[in-house]
Amino acid sequence: MNFIHQPNKEKILSPEPLVHHTSHITNSYAGNWTSIGPYNEIVESKLDDYTYTMDDVTINYAEIGKYCSIASHVCINPVNHPMDRVTQHHMTYRRISYRLAETDDEEIFSWRRLNRVTIGHDVWIGHGAIIMKGVKIGTGAVIASGAVVTKDVEPYTIVAGVPAKLIKDRFSREIADKLQQIAWWNWPRNIIEERFYEFNDLETFLKKYGQ
Ligand SMILES: CC(C)(COP(=O)(O)OP(=O)(O)OC[C@H]1O[C@@H](n2cnc3c(N)ncnc32)[C@H](O)[C@@H]1OP(=O)(O)O)[C@@H](O)C(=O)NCCC(=O)NCCS
Repeated sequence: MNFIHQPNKEKILSPEPLVHHTSHITNSYAGNWTSIGPYNEIVESKLDDYTYTMDDVTINYAEIGKYCSIASHVCINPVNHPMDRVTQHHMTYRRISYRLAETDDEEIFSWRRLNRVTIGHDVWIGHGAIIMKGVKIGTGAVIASGAVVTKDVEPYTIVAGVPAKLIKDRFSREIADKLQQIAWWNWPRNIIEERFYEFNDLETFLKKYGQ
């Protein structure tokens, strides 16, 4: 048997968003230092600074804050088909693709846009999680692998399961409030660089920067 080892080619990022060539992005915005992995489909969404996605991620109509980590096979806002029509097949609104009309049914797309997903800063979304329409996820939250999130998630809490339920708090309410008050994610790059190693020590960090 042959031992095989292929060292990871280190991905060097820059303020310019890095988008894998296999991904498709439509009418979206990606901030500085963002990275979009392979085979992503992103539609009418915003990913703010430093947020990254791994492979096979789908994001529709979502606002995503800074420093979010989005694992493989996550789906944010899987959109609904119109269930009240004779058929729920997408030919009734993707009419151009099926050569059934000269225009698509824009009403359906406007209806989908009404239910945007909103995600705060520093949210970690685990492998294969699904975030359903209209959900708001608070800053600092953790979404467990495989969760289906159907209701809003409080900041700095951890939710898991189908449908997702609170399993624990990441930090006490006091710490969560302090972190949101510090709002380190809004610090400019030079300050992040200067204080970079302090991110590993929560207690000292809060003492130094919390009120
Ligand atoms: C949510 C998570 C962070 C919790 O980790 P943890 O704090 O070490 O939690 P524990 O393993 O102690 O589990 C706590 C409880 O939650 C349950 N739980 C943990 N992960 C779960 C999941 N994904 N789905 C359902 N329940 C889960 C455990 O069974 C346990 O339940 P119990 O108290 O009834 O025994 C972790 O389980 C997880 O899902 N991580 C995501 C990993 C991932 O997707 N990485 C991708 C690379 S970025």
